[in-house]
Amino acid sequence: MRARHRIGLRLAGLALVWIAAARLSAAETGGAITIDATQPRTKVSPSLYGIFFEEINHAGEGGLYAEMVQNRDFEINTLPAGASWAGNLLRTTNGWQERKWFGSELQGWSLIKKGPAAGFIRQDDQSPLNDRNPHSLRLVVKAVGQRIGIVNGGFWGMNVQADKWYDLSFFARTDGEHRVTVGVSLESASGREFYATMSVEGVGGAWKQYRCSLKAKDSDPNGRLVLTVDRPGTIWFDVVSLFPRETFKNRPNGLRPDLARMLADLRPAFVRFPGGAIVGGLNLDNRIQWKNSIGPIEQRLGTMNLWGYWTSNGLGFHEYLQMCEDLGADALWVCNPGFSDNYRCAEVARPGQVKEFVQEALDAIEYALGPANSTWGARRAANGHPAPFPLRYIEIGNEAGGSIYSDNYRQFYEAIHAKYPSLTVIGNQRLRDTPVEMVDDHKYGNPAAFFAAFRQYDAADRRGPKVYVGEFACNSGVREGNLMAALAEAAYRLGLERNGDVVRMSSYAPLFFHVNDIQWPVNMIGFDSSRVALRTSYYVQKMLAWNRPDEILQTQVAPPSDPKDAEVFAIAGLQRKTGDVLVRVVNRAAAPREMKIRFQGVAKIGSRARVTTLSHDDPTAENTVDFPDAVLPVESTFDGAGAEFTYVFRPYSFTLLRLASEKPL
Ligand code: AHR
Repeated sequence: MRARHRIGLRLAGLALVWIAAARLSAAETGGAITIDATQPRTKVSPSLYGIFFEEINHAGEGGLYAEMVQNRDFEINTLPAGASWAGNLLRTTNGWQERKWFGSELQGWSLIKKGPAAGFIRQDDQSPLNDRNPHSLRLVVKAVGQRIGIVNGGFWGMNVQADKWYDLSFFARTDGEHRVTVGVSLESASGREFYATMSVEGVGGAWKQYRCSLKAKDSDPNGRLVLTVDRPGTIWFDVVSLFPRETFKNRPNGLRPDLARMLADLRPAFVRFPGGAIVGGLNLDNRIQWKNSIGPIEQRLGTMNLWGYWTSNGLGFHEYLQMCEDLGADALWVCNPGFSDNYRCAEVARPGQVKEFVQEALDAIEYALGPANSTWGARRAANGHPAPFPLRYIEIGNEAGGSIYSDNYRQFYEAIHAKYPSLTVIGNQRLRDTPVEMVDDHKYGNPAAFFAAFRQYDAADRRGPKVYVGEFACNSGVREGNLMAALAEAAYRLGLERNGDVVRMSSYAPLFFHVNDIQWPVNMIGFDSSRVALRTSYYVQKMLAWNRPDEILQTQVAPPSDPKDAEVFAIAGLQRKTGDVLVRVVNRAAAPREMKIRFQGVAKIGSRARVTTLSHDDPTAENTVDFPDAVLPVESTFDGAGAEFTYVFRPYSFTLLRLASEKPL
């Protein structure tokens, strides 16, 4: 029995060796890629590669928005209007339930006491700073001891960097006339190391803003901010804000530079914002209300956002538009269509009310584009930007549909189109009786679904609306994302490119995730207070966006196979300004593939190719904040190119061959 079992194993072993040998020989005769320059060409949309920013996973609050203080406004427990508590669940009037999003109303803050100090802190609603900030923090000090004050640890640690400046601003008041000196320090989480200290004297009386700047002498990604007082009494604090002096393009109230640079490095043609589901909100009050998110930060209304955390709206409408301008990208703003998020028991505006939502959208457009003497253009100018912002697209709602959507869409479309005919209006659906210039298709799924969708848009109705794939991600069966997911997206995106006459724009979703608080399983860029991890999906987009051809050349892979079974996907294109032919190839198989690459109708192809390869032996490999370099694109050169040559594509790889062609092609 045993001997037979052993023989069985040996035979199985031999079979494996035979399969491996067969694979190797398959690598030698893996097929051919024929690129025919004589056939009609499809133009690739210059706007194909953009980004989609939504406040999810702390993408903004505690992420791209450089504010270092968590719960700076002490409003974290403010409920959307009409919502109430059912135990630990928030319930909207429409019956949607959401988990409680904070541990205590002073989340992010704690009391610090040393020696014989005595006192306490509370959230307080007496004599508020203003009606948009009804709560403050009250610190009652009975005895100062060695030290007493308040601490904020930021968003899972404050990243304090040696030799960098930090600007603090806070509002404070005391009861009566007594004045205190507020000690300010940036220090380690244990309080043993001090990186910078300052004091602000004469704090007291009525509400007033105080500022100071600190230069850190050491680095610590897990630092904290401490404010202490020097005498007993009661003091109230509100809107306590700490910013690194250095932000992206050094904008005040700006963006974390390391994260923003990663966006700039994608060279996005456009930025879609602010969502996503948060555009609708849990109910209409909870929707994104852009007017609450402009002007001085102490005048802004924060929101418990639909993804379950408090958002100060410091990253507001103006900052989004500024980000687009600073990235050299067109802005695509998504407005609320007159109802809250479809998937969360939508609250619907009454028919007569819809015009108010239309006006809200028109006002936003005027803020972005109107002359500086228009009502909202003047507000933009007052906020520091007299020139218009690069707003080019308006999307009416997110993932909405049905007859109410259809009716509302028509009202939005007619009003926007009449006043701003040069804007492209994007709909969520193809509608029967209303012109939809561009429709936003979303796609999430597993690798098989993405490979299979390589030809999805070949069948699109060429007389129908243009397509914007506003959200897509291979996010199922790939854990937190991996190389196989990125390869599937690469094949899918090549399929979008070759349908450039219909598919005009695309953006991956979601963009960011803070590794300490994730609401969505698979995202593009991970970060914590000091580190960044670019997932393989990021590198696929970068390779495509940096090497976007202007025209697709007809590309055939032999032997042909249905995309759902194919192992090799290839699309070649011509870049007009360089005259280069870009051959992009996905090999999703575990074996290397030697392919013959043949050109037809091309006078000459140079022998040297510049090559970029994203690959790994393990298709489940991925970059993380701990191992950000696990899978990186590798640059090389290949000297055997020509009008006909062979190339071995690595297992599990996405390869870009940049070949010099003889002009004109
Ligand atoms: O990208 C995450 C979410 O997925 C978006 O908010 C929503 O539009 C989609 O359902």
